[in-house]
Amino acid sequence: MCGIVGFTGRREASPILLEGLRRLEYRGYDSAGLVTSTGSQLHLRKKAGRLSELGKVVSAHPAPGCHGISHTRWATHGGATDNNSHPHLNETNDIALVHNGVIENFAALKHQLQTSGVQFRSDTDTEVLAHLISHYYHGDLVTAVRQALALVKGTYGIAVIAKAEPGVIVGARLGSPLVVGVGADGTYLASDANALAGFAEKVVYLTDRQICVLSETDWEVRDQDLSPVSVSVSDIKNFLGDGDAEKGAFPHFMLKEIYEQPETLANAMRGRLEADNATAHFGGLNLGAQQLRQIDRVVMTACGTSYHAALVGEYLFEEFARVPVEVEYASELRYRNPPMDRNTVVLALTQSGETADTLAALRESKRMGHTTLAICNAVGSSIAREADGGVYLHAGPEIGVASTKAFTSQVAVLAMLALYLGRTRHLSSTQGQRIIAELQALPGVIRKTLECHDQVKLVAQKYAGAKNVLYLGRQYLYPVALEGALKLKEISYIHAEGYPAAEMKHGPIALVDENTPSVFLVPRGNVFDKVMSNMQEIKARGGPVIAIASAGDHEVSAVADDVIEIPDVPEYLQPIVTAIPLQLLAYEIALLCGCDVDKPRNLAKSVTVE
Ligand code: G6P
Repeated sequence: MCGIVGFTGRREASPILLEGLRRLEYRGYDSAGLVTSTGSQLHLRKKAGRLSELGKVVSAHPAPGCHGISHTRWATHGGATDNNSHPHLNETNDIALVHNGVIENFAALKHQLQTSGVQFRSDTDTEVLAHLISHYYHGDLVTAVRQALALVKGTYGIAVIAKAEPGVIVGARLGSPLVVGVGADGTYLASDANALAGFAEKVVYLTDRQICVLSETDWEVRDQDLSPVSVSVSDIKNFLGDGDAEKGAFPHFMLKEIYEQPETLANAMRGRLEADNATAHFGGLNLGAQQLRQIDRVVMTACGTSYHAALVGEYLFEEFARVPVEVEYASELRYRNPPMDRNTVVLALTQSGETADTLAALRESKRMGHTTLAICNAVGSSIAREADGGVYLHAGPEIGVASTKAFTSQVAVLAMLALYLGRTRHLSSTQGQRIIAELQALPGVIRKTLECHDQVKLVAQKYAGAKNVLYLGRQYLYPVALEGALKLKEISYIHAEGYPAAEMKHGPIALVDENTPSVFLVPRGNVFDKVMSNMQEIKARGGPVIAIASAGDHEVSAVADDVIEIPDVPEYLQPIVTAIPLQLLAYEIALLCGCDVDKPRNLAKSVTVE
């Protein structure tokens, strides 16, 4: 996602800032900017688009000075425009700020500032902080930063400079990483130590609520009351070279994105669960309680992995909200012209927000007069802009072509939407509170689930030579069977089919032999016994069985050839938990097959043609 680099020292700042940002490009971004200081003036340069665009601006209009901060932005609040890019300045252009994270109460703060006459130049949450710091600034930047942050709800990693304090950078973190770098030529601040390799020799990682103050030759870390704290200083030399920096410590984006899921799920839920009212809320849905109450039917539409998430949504909405749901491939819906009554809402699911069929289905639904909503990851994308309302995943850029973290975040958002709808209907507050507690526990559960990776590697070694693989699950796990099969075929090119476990008797069972493994999704739940029977049917025909099962389930291990264990969760969360071993299995098999995991043949990350 966003990246921060700051420098104060004895060299020109802008080349260091641009090089640092280049090393953070892997995070994905849509605009970039920097500001340097010459004491008498702040020199701001910022530009939407790639870093090379900012580079051109800086070449044409150099930003002088040995003191500056810079940023790559992945849009969350407000589109990817020059104005919304960071740094953001106060009205008098003497304080500049870059920010990673989300200021959740920015709307209220902005309203207050506007009421007191402050003019805003961007649509971002960040700009609020620039004005707040300015409000408290009376010649002491660190005190002003501390006072402003006391009003902020949300997450931040920030770097701030003031024209009147040459050589000083103030940084602060809460939930968004920040690291101080110490080098021979000066002092650095970055959101990722990879940006500093080759510049700084030592690094200091800030922890939440710490504030740092940097000068050309010194640095100090303080707590939120500005009392000095002692910190440990580490060597930077063990860090990855810039060639590897893109994926951090991971060999592929797909693996990195699989491992990000505890964090991306937490991001999807942040600020959206309301324990007091036992419900969820969403800033951008643009639907009042009355309109919500009037929804008679939801049509979900999507392509690829997003379509599978929508299928899970069908079960979620029906269970929690008792709302009839129809799920349709966008490529079909756009030409189908189905009869839809007035109170039907069309919900498009899309990671990229640019999939041509999904966009066309959304436009067609709008034309017919339906309310359209989107669950989308890419902020400011076409579908996010054109839908009447929507929910962002906040999962960060997904670079691996095979979608992983977007799927689990989509399902989490659907569960929250189902809770929200359900609470306008028959769900009791006790049920709502239970669901909230279960959702809040999810990031920790996924962290635990990722521990199955070693078991997955062994299974992959055993079955990587298969020509066909069946994926079988029932109810909530039927869509996950489809998704598991899709993951495998996308990146390993092995033929795989997903089926409702009982349905395999009506055809696919003809494929079963000793060379055709079946992956069964069989954690404990309502249909456990039924799925066990289906597993026995495969075993009776000599087919190898790989079971994704509750940890320590002896009944499953007595039948299956191989078991991958996952933690127990309520059934409606099993799609998220069972997706993890299936993503890892596809990844490991593809590696063993020698495939290009991140860029599989013939596939595109964002399909913008029909
Ligand atoms: C492409 C990608 C898939 C993705 C699908 C839908 O086929 O390769 O990973 O699931 O598009 O993309 P969307 O961005 O609309 O979710």
